[in-house]
Amino acid sequence: MPQTALRDQVEIDLGDRSYPILIAADLLGELDAFDAAPSASTALIVTNTTVAPLYATALKATLAKRYHRVETLVLPDGEVHKDWPTLNLIFDALLGHGADRKTVLFALGGGVVGDMTGFAAASYMRGVPFVQVPTTLLAQVDSSVGGKTAINHPLGKNMIGAFYQPHLVLCDLATLQTLPPRELSAGLAEVIKYGPIYDMAFFDWIEANVDALVALEPSALAHAVKRSCEIKAEVVAQDERETGLRAILNFGHTFGHAIESGLGYGEWLHGEAVGCGMVMAAHLSQKLGGVDAAFVTRLTRLIQRAGLPIVGPALGAERYLELMRIDKKSEAGEIRFVVIDQPGSAKVAAAPEAMVREVLAQCCEA
Ligand code: NAD
Ligand code: GLY
Repeated sequence: MPQTALRDQVEIDLGDRSYPILIAADLLGELDAFDAAPSASTALIVTNTTVAPLYATALKATLAKRYHRVETLVLPDGEVHKDWPTLNLIFDALLGHGADRKTVLFALGGGVVGDMTGFAAASYMRGVPFVQVPTTLLAQVDSSVGGKTAINHPLGKNMIGAFYQPHLVLCDLATLQTLPPRELSAGLAEVIKYGPIYDMAFFDWIEANVDALVALEPSALAHAVKRSCEIKAEVVAQDERETGLRAILNFGHTFGHAIESGLGYGEWLHGEAVGCGMVMAAHLSQKLGGVDAAFVTRLTRLIQRAGLPIVGPALGAERYLELMRIDKKSEAGEIRFVVIDQPGSAKVAAAPEAMVREVLAQCCEA
């Protein structure tokens, strides 16, 4: 009998849409890891040109023991392809393979593949089941969990999408070993995020272990993924559709999304933009009285040690403001930011424009 790997499991408690997140090394080859995946005759693996040669064969071999037919669709890689034409390739494949309402989609890849596959699953025949098999740190600690799915619009990041929960999230920690350093750092931004907004004990732990994380040390990665998923599960269970609390998960994202769309998608990685955006949001939090200068320095230092940029690009204040007004948290044209109201706790707040301009002047290249 093959030995079952020691697994961590985190539950997302959403009533009849609850599902498990399994976390362990080498899960792709373990048939019983897929027990919570829906039964069907057909499965479609959606992946990309980078991930397919690394992991699609292993996933397909396992799924072939559970599904009569397993098809694979390989998308072009990159944030720049998180768009309508690429989304349409998923619908083309589903229709081309005669997929029915029970067909299960498996998103094998990072957040881009996960978000697009989830959106396709939400809309094909008004909804088919899907499973997240995240292979980046960012996707394992954040994007595969909680059911946000989307594509980008040229005018705004993740603007077209749906809330649609997967049936299962399967975090195979071994896949992280092939991540390029820049991608690993991008994932660390979303790990670090959970500290100031929710759990300062976790922040202390990240500070003590950031070098081990950057070095891809397996037990450090396992803890980072598990604790991040636990926090995200707790937040999403309280506010699935972001009517309140869930917005705190967007700490750094208002500035970050402006960087991403302002520079052109893919120029900076999402996690890099979020890392730098958290530095800006920390400065704003200080100006609003939530944290002191020492805290801003501490957070900035950690973001830098994780290999992330801490100075924003020179888009110009007007352009930043214009881009940030398109953010999903904006109300009646007023930009709203996630700010730290005390270390370990966050809220959404508006800020005087003059204050935001000061932050941009302080934190961006001239
Ligand atoms: P990504 O999906 O572009 O993946 C990063 C790169 O790593 C890609 O080139 C990918 O092909 C490659 N890759 C993936 N797995 C690999 C592996 N194991 N080994 C080697 N290379 C690998 O980017 P990402 O950082 O995973 O995700 C970013 C996206 O996630 C953004 O579009 C962002 O908006 C979205 N996001 C969504 C949510 C959500 O809640 N849905 C949350 C955070 C971010
Ligand atoms: N990544 C933010 C959220 O899932 O709400």
